[in-house]
Amino acid sequence: MKFLDWFLLLLISSLTILRSVEAQNQAGFISLDCGLVPTNTTYVEKTNNITYKSDADYIDSGLVGKINNAYKTQFQQQLWALRSFPEGQRNCYNVNVTANSKYLIRGSFLYGNYDGLNQLPSFDLHIGPNKWSSVTIEGVANFSMTEIIHVVKQERLQVCLVKTGPTTPFISSLELRPLPNQSYVTLHKPDL
Ligand SMILES: *[C@@H]1O[C@H](CO)[C@@H](O)[C@H](O)[C@H]1NC(C)=O
Ligand SMILES: *[C@@H]1O[C@H](CO)[C@@H](O)[C@H](O)[C@H]1NC(C)=O
Ligand SMILES: *[C@@H]1O[C@H](CO)[C@@H](O)[C@H](O)[C@H]1NC(C)=O
Ligand SMILES: *[C@@H]1O[C@H](CO)[C@@H](O)[C@H](O)[C@H]1NC(C)=O
Ligand SMILES: *[C@@H]1O[C@H](CO)[C@@H](O)[C@H](O)[C@H]1NC(C)=O
Repeated sequence: MKFLDWFLLLLISSLTILRSVEAQNQAGFISLDCGLVPTNTTYVEKTNNITYKSDADYIDSGLVGKINNAYKTQFQQQLWALRSFPEGQRNCYNVNVTANSKYLIRGSFLYGNYDGLNQLPSFDLHIGPNKWSSVTIEGVANFSMTEIIHVVKQERLQVCLVKTGPTTPFISSLELRPLPNQSYVTLHKPDL
């Protein structure tokens, strides 16, 4: 087969693995609706059947907030609440994971003018001490998502929001999906 065929085959296999991981069961999934209150609530988001819970057990800093009601209907429920970090340069989530396994880690962001300031934030994400990504919110109602496939070495993973300027970092949802160790995951698709 030509290179492109192999590439497409790999891509399709990767998507199939991810899709079946998602569809069959949620074992090992960590699906946090950041800023969800009361902190003991859980719910199933009906468009993807994922059970979300509050992030309260995973972080002890930040403020809970909600997007402006006007934007809610356009977005999945895990984007309605958020956690923001006006204090401190670096605020971290601590997540218990299986050591030496591969995870898809996904952060989602919807500003929704939660603070009434109409000021679009930008900030960085780190995994432990290492920079993962920069987040720049492009519009009040512009959803953005960033994903990485990461092999975790230890039983604890830190995902941190790091202030890089005058605006306040925030996060709407944080999700971790365990991946099979041997998966040839080269690419992934945002809507999984
Ligand atoms: C959540 O906590 C509140 C107050 O602590 C309690 O009244 C309620 O029953 C709890 N709900 C669930 C689903 O555990
Ligand atoms: C969610 O689960 C219900 C009941 O099992 C099913 O009917 C529905 O098609 C599922 N929706 C999605 C998006 O998977
Ligand atoms: C993570 O593991 C530690 C140590 O086993 C435990 O104390 C803590 O409650 C766990 N955190 C969560 C959110 O499960
Ligand atoms: C922001 O969202 C609006 C409305 O959905 C869209 O028209 C616009 O292109 C988006 N801007 C960016 C930079 O993505
Ligand atoms: C991946 O391999 C590690 C050690 O080699 C093992 O501890 C872990 O359970 C494996 N994970 C999966 C999902 O098979």
